[in-house]
Amino acid sequence: MIRAVNVFDFEAIARERMTPSSFDYYAGGAEDEVTLSENRDAFRRIALLPRVLVGADRVQTAVEVLGVSLACPVGLAPTALNKLAHADGELAAARAAGKAGTLMCCSTASSTSLEDVAAAAGGPLWFQLYVYRDREVTRDLVRRAELARCKAIVLTVDTPRLGRRERDARSGFSLPPDVSISNLERYGTPEALRWAQTSSFTEYVHKLFDPTLTWESVAWLKSITSLPLLIKGILSADDAALAIDHGASGIVVSNHGGRQLDGAMATIDALPAITARVAGRVPVFLDGGIRRGTDVFKALALGARAVFIGRAYLWGLAADGEAGVTRVLEMLRAELELTMALSGCQTVAAITPAHVSLR
Ligand code: FNR
Repeated sequence: MIRAVNVFDFEAIARERMTPSSFDYYAGGAEDEVTLSENRDAFRRIALLPRVLVGADRVQTAVEVLGVSLACPVGLAPTALNKLAHADGELAAARAAGKAGTLMCCSTASSTSLEDVAAAAGGPLWFQLYVYRDREVTRDLVRRAELARCKAIVLTVDTPRLGRRERDARSGFSLPPDVSISNLERYGTPEALRWAQTSSFTEYVHKLFDPTLTWESVAWLKSITSLPLLIKGILSADDAALAIDHGASGIVVSNHGGRQLDGAMATIDALPAITARVAGRVPVFLDGGIRRGTDVFKALALGARAVFIGRAYLWGLAADGEAGVTRVLEMLRAELELTMALSGCQTVAAITPAHVSLR
């Protein structure tokens, strides 16, 4: 049994178990890692304002997300290359999410094919899309997500180029021979296969990802799928409004875990203006820096429907495979439940902006 009482303990175990370069690929951010640390610091700056004597005997963490009910408003964010953490990779993550009654968003750059992830997922699965320069590849990825019964497409829009991840440049991070970007292999593009032999993920991204994406591309995507389309990587309220104008069914407030534009604002700081502008027209989600149930509570109080965890689940995965992800999800659920009880909120719907104080 892994001895960990919180997510930070899992991070320490992951650091011991992973190779230093793979650990740094997961842990690191862009340039000076200002945004990476801001994502955490900004949560610390928000104080809780509990209400008392409202009863705490029947606290329920269930929520509804795009018509699907989840046991807890904490899902698994799309993260590339889960096999760097554990041989079971995305399969372990998908099984753990299903058992926890929550959803997983499978990355385009997963190290297990989305069909296999879908077969393992006991709960709802979303598919995160990077738009490839080759639009036929993009179209096929969307079709595959539909056939695999994914419930939504999540378009990541903060990666027209890859951020400068200096830890990876220093370590010469490259793929071990048994790990690949599995979803792309079938297209036989030499580039898709070549990344394992080069040292630079940056080169891979710049060769393959389409840097010409605009709001028009969102219209094109909508024309090729009937699945709900969410836009991930929004920090500005103006962009949130544009996303809705272009038919988005949801918005994921994200700075890619501090891995893209360094100096970009913390997601929890960006959230209030976005939920105010969106005004309930579509659900707003948040990721970035979630390590505690109190972080989840603060995001819900400021208007998020649910949150996603990236590194927190990767640390559980690296430490103990499926069991580790299960424990991370259970820890966050239990911490959220306790926070709700101590704040006087029996249901997620009872959590309001009045339960936090922006200092
Ligand atoms: C990511 N993220 C990410 N996002 C995405 O849209 N597609 C992807 O393939 C990846 N890959 C990826 C790999 C790794 C190792 C990390 C840590 C992150 C970003 C991810 O979805 C999410 O925005 C952040 O992880 C949230 O921040 P936390 O929870 O890691 O602090």
